[in-house]
Amino acid sequence: MIKFQNVAKTYPNGVQALKNVNLEIKDGEFVAIIGLSGAGKSTLLRLINKMIDSTEGQIIIDDTEVSSLTGKKLRLVRRNIGMIFQSFNLVKRTSVYNNVLAGRVAYHSTFKTIFGLFPKEDKLIALEAIETLGILDKAFIRADQLSGGQQQRVALARALAQKPKIILADEPVASLDPITTIYVMNDFKRINSEFGITVVANMHHVDLALKYATRIIGIKAGEIVYDGPSHEITDDLLVHIYGRSLKSDEVLGDIDENI
Ligand SMILES: Nc1ncnc2c1ncn2[C@@H]1O[C@H](COP(=O)(O)OP(=O)(O)OP(=O)(O)O)[C@@H](O)[C@H]1O
Ligand SMILES: [Mg+2]
Repeated sequence: MIKFQNVAKTYPNGVQALKNVNLEIKDGEFVAIIGLSGAGKSTLLRLINKMIDSTEGQIIIDDTEVSSLTGKKLRLVRRNIGMIFQSFNLVKRTSVYNNVLAGRVAYHSTFKTIFGLFPKEDKLIALEAIETLGILDKAFIRADQLSGGQQQRVALARALAQKPKIILADEPVASLDPITTIYVMNDFKRINSEFGITVVANMHHVDLALKYATRIIGIKAGEIVYDGPSHEITDDLLVHIYGRSLKSDEVLGDIDENI
């Protein structure tokens, strides 16, 4: 469970990225966060695993208030949260297998992992995750020799190997072509339904967000302006979230006018 109570984030440069955010995400939900560039989507995600600190309010993960956590307690909370980025964030010059095995790092001392001393059980977990994502044939290939879609699968396998309760994804398909996008989104859906892992994803593609997520959180200028089931989203609500129509003929009309 992820709970935000009156959360605000002002960056040191004075930008107020989030204002008075209240939300509760239950275990196993698939949530898409949508909104214009700069609305505060990445800020919201980064607050969940404490990559950044809030300036006001409480963030509660599974009954633990995380704002004040440090050291071992923070590591334990973070271990349950996998993170996926638009740019995959793999170690490019090493194998798929080693990248995925790195998902187990949080379970061991730094000393052991520096020397690659992972127990056999972890190696099996890593291979299992690679198999789940359908890239077992690529296990011993260097990550930089894979396509974008394959690299994002490696990142997903790494997150899965971490045995998380939550996966946060910041624009996970923004660098992928439309077909690969669908495959990767299907992987997210499968991971969500098969393993019951909560997925919270920032998405620029509204159609994809509506198709894959069961719940939409719309953010506008740092505030939640919609929070509800994806099937209840209407064009009017999208206009409210984005401040304008998303219909392509109207967008293109606007571009024509502004050229
Ligand atoms: N590290 C930072 N320091 C200062 N301001 C920041 C920082 N990160 C983000 N901001 C500002 O906070 C606001 C929200 O940014 P955020 O990255 O959360 O938006 P976003 O919705 O993820 O946008 P995008 O869709 O472009 O990724 C923006 O005005 C941004 O300029
Ligand atoms: Mg962002």
